[in-house]
Amino acid sequence: MLYSGPKAIFYALSKSSGLKRLASRYGLAAPHGFARRFIAGETIDEAVGVARELQRKRLLLTLDYLGESVRTREAATAATAEYLRLIDVIVGAGIERNLSLKLTQLGVDVDRATCVDNLRRILEPAERQGFFVRFDMENSRYTDVTLDVFYTLWQQQHRNIGVALQAYLLRTEGDVRRMNDLGARVRLVKGAYKEPGTVAFQQKNEVDDSFRRLMRMLLDDGSYPAIATHEEQLLEETCAYAATRSISTERFEFQMLYGIRRDLQASLVERGYRVRVYVPFGREWFPYFMRRLGERPANVGFVLRGILGER
Ligand code: FDA
Repeated sequence: MLYSGPKAIFYALSKSSGLKRLASRYGLAAPHGFARRFIAGETIDEAVGVARELQRKRLLLTLDYLGESVRTREAATAATAEYLRLIDVIVGAGIERNLSLKLTQLGVDVDRATCVDNLRRILEPAERQGFFVRFDMENSRYTDVTLDVFYTLWQQQHRNIGVALQAYLLRTEGDVRRMNDLGARVRLVKGAYKEPGTVAFQQKNEVDDSFRRLMRMLLDDGSYPAIATHEEQLLEETCAYAATRSISTERFEFQMLYGIRRDLQASLVERGYRVRVYVPFGREWFPYFMRRLGERPANVGFVLRGILGER
């Protein structure tokens, strides 16, 4: 089973405030904090430094100011202000203009209207400055509201936006079709949350098969899709499928997470593919970090030894 065992354990641990406090104190401590493998740092300046390093390696990037599950209007407003500041800093720094964000960070649990208002406040300057803004997809309680908010903004002519869709959800084929019909840009991921069998495939081979089917739908009919995985087999199948359909390398991109399979990121760039790295930063890194550990328990070894792993 894909989502039982380690994934469930790390999911449960990610809710522990004691562990979060402890990890937050040491996780990013200079220079060898154990979370640095996956998190660019706590500050915007650190994230910009990482972004410059990635650009030197001819990688594309998207910056994510970490935060989720915000419960108050004030916290959602503060996160919005931080995104506005990030836009200014990115423009000033001259790095690539691409952001990823989560709706629960911008107040969707407070109420939908607050979240839409906050998104508009971000999208207006972002659009003026030529940014692309991707909505991450959270657990299945948020799938409908995320897609509804996306659709609302799309109808209001916000066209610099895209959304992530998860191959593990049973419903995603319909969502991909709808996004393809709209002409909206999709990031295809396997899905990172613990979901029940009523809504999600539970076996790795089922998720991989779903990913394959959706990848083909996106390459055939999508608008500049992002194929986001570190699984070598799926990456190779994507390259092969694009080649057989004469889909050029400018018509899609690969995406991977900061610190994961850097070897693959580099080799795909070398072969002429576009590869975007998702760069998370900020003080609220603990839940993101725990999801990464749950995906690959071998990572716990890195943490325990305090080693910065290089792959
Ligand atoms: P899988 O987990 O099967 O791993 C395949 C191989 O990749 C492993 O064998 C290993 O080599 C390597 N690998 C994977 N994870 C690793 C890790 N943590 N450490 C070291 N190696 C690892 N999810 C979501 O629900 N909503 C979202 O919005 C996003 N956004 C997003 C953006 C981007 C750019 C990426 C790459 C991923 C996401 N995800 C996501 C996460 C995604 O759903 C998924 O959990 C991870 O990408 C891991 O799945 P893989 O496709 O890599 O396959």
